[in-house]
Amino acid sequence: MADQPRSKIVSELFIGIMSGTSLDGIDVVLADFSAAPRLLASHSIPMPQDLVAQLLALNTPGFDDLRLAQEASVAVTRLYAEATCALLDKSAITAQEIQAIGCHGQTVRHRPQDGYTLQLQQPALLAELTGISVAADFRSRDIAAGGQGAPLVPAFHQCVLGDAQEHRAVLNLGGIANVTQLKPGAPVIGFDTGPANILMDAWCQQHSKQRFDAHGAWARSGQVDGVLLTRCLSHPFFAAKPPKSCGREEFSLAWLTTQLGGKEATADVQATLAELTALSAASAIKAWYGAPERLLLCGGGARNDFLRERIALHLPGVRVERSDVLGVPGDWLEAFAFAWLAYRLWHHLPGNLPEVTGATGLRLLGAIYPA
Ligand SMILES: Nc1ncnc2c1ncn2[C@@H]1O[C@H](COP(=O)(O)OP(=O)(O)OP(=O)(O)O)[C@@H](O)[C@H]1O
Ligand SMILES: [Mg+2]
Repeated sequence: MADQPRSKIVSELFIGIMSGTSLDGIDVVLADFSAAPRLLASHSIPMPQDLVAQLLALNTPGFDDLRLAQEASVAVTRLYAEATCALLDKSAITAQEIQAIGCHGQTVRHRPQDGYTLQLQQPALLAELTGISVAADFRSRDIAAGGQGAPLVPAFHQCVLGDAQEHRAVLNLGGIANVTQLKPGAPVIGFDTGPANILMDAWCQQHSKQRFDAHGAWARSGQVDGVLLTRCLSHPFFAAKPPKSCGREEFSLAWLTTQLGGKEATADVQATLAELTALSAASAIKAWYGAPERLLLCGGGARNDFLRERIALHLPGVRVERSDVLGVPGDWLEAFAFAWLAYRLWHHLPGNLPEVTGATGLRLLGAIYPA
């Protein structure tokens, strides 16, 4: 038998690191992009409580911010390096085999209307600690080109969850909720729909001493407060047209406090916050391209059974499932996306979708700090 031609297998290994607005932890993945994107390994480490407090404080102006921000960025970068090393250890892969790390950094400001966004991290230190090249600062080039700098994941959603026949939408339920509409033959649309876990987590931490409302059990025990819900929905962000993005600037415990009448039962507030997320996301999905055939959920909020049920209730006839059913683990999708954005930059390929972010054109996103 003649020898089979030996095709040279070139691996395209990248690492993605994500720590989102929920401040729950650091997610790191190892992915291969030599063919269709493949998730090879994942690892997560919790964010230490003192660092959570430091980072939360940095979301609002305070004394000696410049020093505190730099100190927090060094601390968070050391954790990124620790998570990366743990991931490499458990996958038996060496740093030399990785092309680059795509690191999102920790958002403490997002003000595209003023021309900037700020993700704390020290990419030079990460390159030094890991011995791997680091791609970072993905959002600012899109903002420089007139865009929102967010969301950046829709291009990746299209790549791994798009379908030629089925009209799909992807809803990421992280700290903030963002949707991507993937309608065959139509341009991709993606935008933030409002708060997901940031408000529910904050209320839960303040009143139930739990970090989050596991499976939405506490919210389920309460009643939706119609007056509070209407008041919350009157926030101008919900009526604004995309492209749009939001963060703790718009939706914080301080904002929630101004919406409360003062007599609401705490469980009712939790139920109302879950409903706020479900209703605002479902309405936003229907408003642009109409309801999809299938809605794929990802992010930590996809584990919230009550929230999932409420979303499905507002989208009758839509198959609502976690993205895991299509082989794309929803817990790791964001980190996977930043590995992909690093791969795009590494090969001088654009990472943004101008129709999503509002930028004036396609751009190479981020900067590389060589190993
Ligand atoms: N079993 C669960 N039940 C309910 N909520 C959960 C569960 N597991 C996780 N969560 C929620 O998911 C949150 C974390 O989600 P995720 O990591 O996707 O958000 P993130 O880090 O803010 O990311 P993003 O960048 O997308 O905003 C937790 O803070 C918690 O509120
Ligand atoms: Mg997270």
